[in-house]
Amino acid sequence: MKLIINKKEYNVPDSYGEKRLTDYIRDELDLTGAKNACQMNACGACAVLLNNEVIKICHVLVKDAEGKEILTIEGMENPDGTLHQLQQAFVDAGAIQCGFCTPGMVLTAHAFLMKNPKPTREQIRKALQGNLCRCTGYQQIIDAVEMASEYYRKN
Ligand code: FES
Ligand code: FES
Repeated sequence: MKLIINKKEYNVPDSYGEKRLTDYIRDELDLTGAKNACQMNACGACAVLLNNEVIKICHVLVKDAEGKEILTIEGMENPDGTLHQLQQAFVDAGAIQCGFCTPGMVLTAHAFLMKNPKPTREQIRKALQGNLCRCTGYQQIIDAVEMASEYYRKN
């Protein structure tokens, strides 16, 4: 079967079909941005985009992602290799401490901002409520998403 991850096609042996997508991309492809944390669809640390929708892939099997466009944090950078404007906003706003939640936060915010580039802080808060952060207290994360929203309005 084929997986399309960060615009690259991967031929995956059928024997991996029943493996969890988190385990497959981390262990076999070395894409370690998506984290193995609660594994209960609760914390958001494993969130990636499947066809531009946020999915917590700790409960997705490899075979269920076949043919879908998967975006992980490793595919977020700009074509010239610089950080995507949303990633840069996380840095600038001080929205990263240990960084464990950051890939899931960024991808969840990316999916949200693509649909809603002019959000209120309350809408941002609601969009990120499935992503837990142990460190930041969330304010800087909301700041970062708000800062980056201008970029999504223009692009
Ligand atoms: S590891 Fe998937 S939601 Fe927590
Ligand atoms: S920055 Fe540490 S969990 Fe969010």
